[in-house]
Amino acid sequence: MKKDLSNIKKAKYLLDNNQCVAIPTETVYGLAANAYSSKATLKVFKLKKRPKTNPLIVHYYKIKDLEKDCEINNDFKRLYNEFCPGPITFILKLKRESKISKNVTNGKKTLAVRFPKKSITRRLLSYLKYPLAAPSANIYTQLSAVSKKDVKEEFGKKIKFILDGGYSEIGLESTIVNLVSKPQVLRLGSIDIKRISKVLKRKLNYSKNESIKVPGQLKFHYSPGIPIRLNVKKPYLDEAFILIRKRKVFDKNYFYLSKNKNLKEAGKNLYKTLRKIKRLKFQRLAIEKIPNIGIGQTINDRLKRASRG
Ligand code: TXA
Ligand code: MG
Repeated sequence: MKKDLSNIKKAKYLLDNNQCVAIPTETVYGLAANAYSSKATLKVFKLKKRPKTNPLIVHYYKIKDLEKDCEINNDFKRLYNEFCPGPITFILKLKRESKISKNVTNGKKTLAVRFPKKSITRRLLSYLKYPLAAPSANIYTQLSAVSKKDVKEEFGKKIKFILDGGYSEIGLESTIVNLVSKPQVLRLGSIDIKRISKVLKRKLNYSKNESIKVPGQLKFHYSPGIPIRLNVKKPYLDEAFILIRKRKVFDKNYFYLSKNKNLKEAGKNLYKTLRKIKRLKFQRLAIEKIPNIGIGQTINDRLKRASRG
């Protein structure tokens, strides 16, 4: 606990001075900067090698802070009460008087906002006088990071500090819901569309193209950088093979996402496993069929994007 406080203070000092700091969240690690500062947010794009046209998610501690920057509506309140703090991101209308840097939104009139649950990050946010712009802490189009070690692997010494919060409990990026026009899910996450529809008492759709269309954006994302085959029954000899549940047969090329086909556990282990396979320098990867229900849908969505390399 004492150690946590000194680390939080260190992160605050750097952020107050327009530096980037990696922060843990329950979904994936984020690369954070003061969302009100153009200087700090510009550094995020540079470090991630992310096109400036791709806007950033902003992380808040409480609704009162959010109200300075965004218009909130009843749908937002309902979802907030049900799921926050937690793995859900809302697209809201930006207020004209908001201090959010134009770099964050790419000049757009909407903002992606989130209330992360990870306690060390909530404590950090509670000490700051500004919200944190924080996209996933990985180089653009690469695998998201779910531990301090992963962030180090992505950025090396280029970032000054990583606030350690252990492994991300969920391991998949947040569900994104657009609340500006008719509610719509823009990115699948660990919170099922059905649960969101139930709270809003309205059927929601998933619009297949992730979030807004970004000019020049590469087709692939969340990629371990090697060819991937999906729905495979039998792998080739030199392929790493990812299975949804543990089998009795042992092969050093086999990697299990869960002990017993538990999709939540599989989601948590997905990026960890992909990164392990990358570290072991496999040249190609095969994955068995993952049930397309609940978090399984999100896993399949990420795998499809990763395989389009
Ligand atoms: O779980 C998460 O959401 C993590 C953690 C760190 O919070 N963050 C994350 O950020 O995944 P990022 O930047 O990797 O993905 C955010 C997505 C991007 O595809 C971006 O284009 C989209 O959100 N986005 C940001 N602002 C938007 C907006 N105003 N309208 C629509 N989409 C937006
Ligand atoms: Mg990302």
